[in-house]
Amino acid sequence: MGNSDTDVPFSGIRAYRERYGVNDHFPDKGRSEQEVLQELRDMAVAEDDFWQTGRCSGSLYRGNMEHYAFLNQAASLYSHVNALQRDICPSATRFESEIIAMTLDMMHAGAATDATPCGALTTGGTDSIMSAVLAHREKARRQSTERRHEMILPMTAHPAFEKAAHLFDIEIVSAPIDPKTTLIDVDFVRDHINQYTILLVGSAGNYPYGTIDPIEQLSELALQHGVGLHVDGCLGGFILPWGEALGYDIPVFDFRLPGVSSISADTHKYGYGLKGTSVVLYRDKALREGQYFLSEMWTGGKYFSPGMAGSRPTGLLAATWASMVSLGKEGYLKLAKAIFETSFAMQAEVARHPELCMMGKPTFCFSFRSDEFEIYHINDFMRQRGWRFNGQQYPNAIHMCVTGPQTQPGVVESFAADLDEAVAYAKGQGQTPAKSSAIYGGLPSDEPEAQNMLRQILVQLLDSMHDLPDK
Ligand SMILES: Cc1ncc(COP(=O)(O)O)c(C=O)c1O
Repeated sequence: MGNSDTDVPFSGIRAYRERYGVNDHFPDKGRSEQEVLQELRDMAVAEDDFWQTGRCSGSLYRGNMEHYAFLNQAASLYSHVNALQRDICPSATRFESEIIAMTLDMMHAGAATDATPCGALTTGGTDSIMSAVLAHREKARRQSTERRHEMILPMTAHPAFEKAAHLFDIEIVSAPIDPKTTLIDVDFVRDHINQYTILLVGSAGNYPYGTIDPIEQLSELALQHGVGLHVDGCLGGFILPWGEALGYDIPVFDFRLPGVSSISADTHKYGYGLKGTSVVLYRDKALREGQYFLSEMWTGGKYFSPGMAGSRPTGLLAATWASMVSLGKEGYLKLAKAIFETSFAMQAEVARHPELCMMGKPTFCFSFRSDEFEIYHINDFMRQRGWRFNGQQYPNAIHMCVTGPQTQPGVVESFAADLDEAVAYAKGQGQTPAKSSAIYGGLPSDEPEAQNMLRQILVQLLDSMHDLPDK
């Protein structure tokens, strides 16, 4: 086995410094378009080669270059157009309203006969989640003068909720999960609903383990206490409904449950759109209004936008719409079946090893850990074979979010063979620390000093992604 990060393609964030130099000031003269395009192409092709092997978890959901070429054509027709200026692009209104209508249909909004279901397009999952949290806070503010607000979420919920809490001044009550099922402890939620609670959260499925919280029970609690319930379907929203239709064991998590007040579902994940769009759905229009922003008195004219963003790319709306209408239900069902079947086949390979144990009862995305060795040794070994998993902590585990590229012939077989060797390797490591555990749980303790160090490391990492070297 190699032992440095350079063994893994693109793990160095400055991978191109040597090859292309650095634009550390505005160039005096321009370069030919051909040359610029060639440089872009060289980098893109090399990076695409990496995930096209089928060894990369998540991220490239459709993973099919013909599909992407089609979406790029759709986007290019509108990529110069701003969706904020509707008078010159009525097509944006068509794309948005139809994307929302199709997503509402997928989430059985027709069952919400008590309300007027609706939605909005956002820039991604985090934006959808923040919009929904803001909308619930605005509703609470309209209904009461109380200024303390709390939301209860499983500890597995995506950090986007923490970001929303931070920005919109909401307290988080973090609910533990059952370590066996990985699902939110509903008794804890029940015990912690109080006069400040505005929102409960469940995931379908969560990012760490792909598992689905007991949304039906949360829905009952939400109704009983008159609070909102957001279902985070950013990851699973565009695949689980097809899984249910195909007959897999997937519980109901959408608007058929009367307590569900909002749902996020990412078109740029299993919606197979280009990166940069997501849908947030509301059970009722009154709730959506809370995410709107209006400035009626501005000198620049009466300004209004549906959410966080100002100008928005019509090209991405066109591509998302094109993805949905070109595939139709039939296409999504076909892709979903291949993904579920591949995931179950890979899970069976994990289950062959008594040293490994699965986190909960997963479907399209699965995570596993070990009581016998540090699971990051498996990660270390598999990385050398070109696999890229995502790491979890508390407890340490690694996940594979199965997408289009894993459904190619031979991927499950190579996963099985490499995993056999990885287990043997991990067993032989004894007390040697794993290389890939440095950030994902390798810090010695939860002491404030260690946490402080971790923050500094992460801030430095973000700085280094944005600044030129040596600045
Ligand atoms: C369950 C879940 N929620 C929210 C998000 C946030 O989505 P985005 O990265 O598009 O902001 C993700 C991203 O992976 C996710 O898996």
